[in-house]
Amino acid sequence: MPTNTQYRLPNSLRMGLLVAGLVGLLMGVLAWLQVERERAADLEEMDRRAYVLSHQMVYSVQAALQLPDREAAAALSSSLEGYPPLIGLAVYRPDGRLLAAGKDVQEFAADLNKVVARALKEQKDIIESIRTDQGRVYILASAIRAPDGQPQGVLVVVQDMSQVDKLVVSRRVRFGFWVGVVTLLLLTLVVAGAWLLYDRPLKRMMEWMRQLRGGDDAEPPPLEPPAARLANENGRLADSLRTARSAQRAQARAVAQTGQIWTRERLHAYMIDRLRGRRLLVLSNREPYLHELQDGKTRLRTPAGGLVTALDPVLRASGGVWIAHGAGNADRMTADERGRLAVPPDDPAYTLRRVWLSREEEHGYYHGFANEGLWPLCHLAHERPVFRASNWEHYLRANQRFAAIALEEVGADPAVVLVQDYHLALAPRLLKDARPDLTVGMFWHIPWPNPEAFRICPWRAELLRGLLGADLIGFHLQQHCNNFLDTADRMIEARLDWNRFTVESHDHVSRVRPFPIGVQPWSERRTPSGIHLARQIDELRDRYSLDHVRVAVGIDRIDYTKGLPERFRAVARFLERYPRYRGQFTLVQLSTPSRTYLRRYRDHLNELESLADTINWRFQTAAWKPIRFLVGDQDTATIHAFMRLAEINIVSSLHDGMNLVAKEFVAARSDLDGVLILSEFTGAARELSDALIVNPYDVEQFAETIQRALEMPSDERRERMTQMRRHVEEHNIYRWAADFLDTLTADPTSTSSTQEAT
Ligand code: G6P
Repeated sequence: MPTNTQYRLPNSLRMGLLVAGLVGLLMGVLAWLQVERERAADLEEMDRRAYVLSHQMVYSVQAALQLPDREAAAALSSSLEGYPPLIGLAVYRPDGRLLAAGKDVQEFAADLNKVVARALKEQKDIIESIRTDQGRVYILASAIRAPDGQPQGVLVVVQDMSQVDKLVVSRRVRFGFWVGVVTLLLLTLVVAGAWLLYDRPLKRMMEWMRQLRGGDDAEPPPLEPPAARLANENGRLADSLRTARSAQRAQARAVAQTGQIWTRERLHAYMIDRLRGRRLLVLSNREPYLHELQDGKTRLRTPAGGLVTALDPVLRASGGVWIAHGAGNADRMTADERGRLAVPPDDPAYTLRRVWLSREEEHGYYHGFANEGLWPLCHLAHERPVFRASNWEHYLRANQRFAAIALEEVGADPAVVLVQDYHLALAPRLLKDARPDLTVGMFWHIPWPNPEAFRICPWRAELLRGLLGADLIGFHLQQHCNNFLDTADRMIEARLDWNRFTVESHDHVSRVRPFPIGVQPWSERRTPSGIHLARQIDELRDRYSLDHVRVAVGIDRIDYTKGLPERFRAVARFLERYPRYRGQFTLVQLSTPSRTYLRRYRDHLNELESLADTINWRFQTAAWKPIRFLVGDQDTATIHAFMRLAEINIVSSLHDGMNLVAKEFVAARSDLDGVLILSEFTGAARELSDALIVNPYDVEQFAETIQRALEMPSDERRERMTQMRRHVEEHNIYRWAADFLDTLTADPTSTSSTQEAT
């Protein structure tokens, strides 16, 4: 792809060209100035010579001018001849008539008339240079006056300038030659120096690192500057890579023996087996890597949200193409002309294909139909869905666009296409209609409501028909599968098999199954551990004045389904009921703004800010605040550090398909400490029964649960966390992907699947 393969000059050559170019330019300017200075000196010399001559001649010319023409010419004839560079002299009468001239001057007589006329008219010395057939000549025309001031005539001195011009040319050539030689010499020196001191050591180091990453235990490069300064760090890096790799190998061996834990490597091998040469494509609205312009520079961002967090590690393990909306304002300039780029940019493992949508399309399809319509329709959070015909049109067209790009990517090859979430409900049918041989899976990441709730959507039948183009439709929970089957049963012509969990419509059978999604192990991510983690935690405590307070953390996109006002009110109620915790307990709420184009989301952010202010104002002291509401993107390392800093993680969604933050928190607590307070309305609550389960609407119970979490004995904390970790580790994201793929690619008549995969 052009972005990655564009030819770049080696750094040493670029540095050499820059330095030598600048120095060469400077020397060129100086040389030019010097040539000009010398030329000016030559001209001055010519002036001086002409004046001396004219002064020497003036008396004899004055005397001759008293005589009649013939005698005057005879008196002057011998003294008007020249010798190089003097061509000769000429004398004119006051009426401009030539009286006498050296013989070489006579060739220019016609050219001199104008200058003589001027000298007579202005009665002063005129200096000019004129171009003749023989080259340039220098002319000094001196007006001669009698002692009483009467004009007597003109004496003209004519000199040859060709010598001066030749000197200019030869000086230019000489200086140019030396400037060229010095520039070339400098270029060679800088390129050689930069290559020896910079390019070569770095290239060797890069090569070594590449080999190390690829698994070769290569010898480190020789210690030469500047890489020598990294010698220690390199050694440590290599050691930790080796350690990690051997741990991985041990884990893989353990897995092979026990068949328990799914890893990236195991999924990779499994995918190859299940795909059997077919290509793998993922379709989602949200892209895993987004480029934005900030202060004139492109910045890479990983968008918040469970879908991206879950699927990126899967694609890294399996490879393939992920097709998603290019929403970043620098997305076009970081992809090739087809919108493709290799990701992750620092260690490419798969291809991201960006889909371009106009502002209007994005607004109608994403903000409008998906997020003002389907999102509140599927979440029971008492938010009224809005459905507009124009938004539906955009939704339909965007789905067609995604499907067309998927078909273009597939070409004529066999492929497995995994369509993700409520933005792309129509894509499965569009794909199947175009290519019935494709294997199409659909995963719905949010809840599916009961038929009564779903029926209010004016395009319910179209959505169901779109989804039923898939061979397999996955939800997080069995309850969502049941709701879906119920909805299909009541709203479209379809044959349902409740024993096999299938829906047959338009001669096509779709299986409907639960696949509770999991998370990637933290050990695979670049987050500090040991002393570095402790240092980062100390810094965060310092930065947010959290010294000596017990901390609960909440990590959410700002969304009305996440139960953030309920969480804040529970904290206030907790401090009312248990005043001993005032000054002792803080909720740190990390919140990423989301869908802020929609007014509902902006209002929600304002509501949260003012609620946090009100509660803080009521309880805070000079040194303490009960709620730290931190709005903005947080990097993975900071989120991880907060998960380790806090004693409690609060997840209080009013309705959530799964909620991966809860699982991420459990996965982060390798210290087996920490308490999870989890809303009963999340999918995660079905699996993490050792969390403290709350009803976020019940403020008294919620407040009491915070107190219970803070006072839970350490043995109990450890026991609960151990149980939850076991589940989260086993049901990780690789297992989820393997289960889904296994069912999708299995014989459609088979009923079991997930057991086979594990
Ligand atoms: C939920 C949805 C995802 C979505 C994420 C973030 O988890 O299921 O499909 O990507 O929210 O929302 P956003 O609108 O920013 O993509």
